[in-house]
Amino acid sequence: MRIVLLGAPGAGKGTQAKKLIEKYNIPQISTGDILRKAVADGTPLGKEAKVIMDKGDLVTDEIVIGLVKERLAQDDCKNGYILDGFPRTTPQAEELDNVLTTMGSPLDVALSVDVAMSELMQRLTGRRTCAGCQQMYNVHFSAPAKEGVCDKCGGELQQRDDDKEATIKNRLDIYEKSTAPLIDYYGNKGILKSVAGVGSIDDIFNNICSVLGS
Ligand code: AP5
Repeated sequence: MRIVLLGAPGAGKGTQAKKLIEKYNIPQISTGDILRKAVADGTPLGKEAKVIMDKGDLVTDEIVIGLVKERLAQDDCKNGYILDGFPRTTPQAEELDNVLTTMGSPLDVALSVDVAMSELMQRLTGRRTCAGCQQMYNVHFSAPAKEGVCDKCGGELQQRDDDKEATIKNRLDIYEKSTAPLIDYYGNKGILKSVAGVGSIDDIFNNICSVLGS
């Protein structure tokens, strides 16, 4: 199954992708995670990307397309994958189509996770991620038993640098302007499916599974 996950920042793409990879046994390709790793590793790409990400702006199409092409060519993508956070602009979507046409393996579905803008700010300001095992929490909706400590592995919970109110506002504006048009883009191709991204994480996941027909 080759899936693109669409949705605003904080819609729950990463949360649902982690459940989908277990069910379908296919990798999650998150351009945000790839870029954050480059930042943490201090690579030249990471240094360039950090300045952009900290403002909540988009990294150039050229950079992310290059990253995704390289990733899709790896062996573990042969049986499918979940693209999370890519594409985010029309040029990225068009280039993805070109690459997949060349590979002879077009997308099966673009899945939009829909959440009202009014809820997203609280989700993003409340997000905390374990530095050890990457388990995600939310101080408003799913807090850990002990503040700042991961329930699963005891690791330290961290807040993302771009989860600050002013930066989030910019990310949401950019989503509306540059990424939301992809809903029509995939709708016109006849591969768009949508689920409401509100309610319990498990209920949303069950809805996703039924929309995907499994
Ligand atoms: P990226 O990492 O892709 O961030 P994003 O799209 O802003 O998405 P998020 O990770 O913030 O949200 P999510 O939808 O995954 O929600 P989550 O599951 O975490 O990108 C970061 C930056 O990298 C970009 O700003 C850009 O600079 C750069 N970048 C990345 N890709 C790029 C590209 N293709 N082109 C150019 N630049 C690119 O959930 C959020 C919170 O809500 C969590 O706390 C979670 O626990 C909680 N939550 C989840 N579901 C629920 C629920 N049902 N109810 C209550 N709370 C919930």
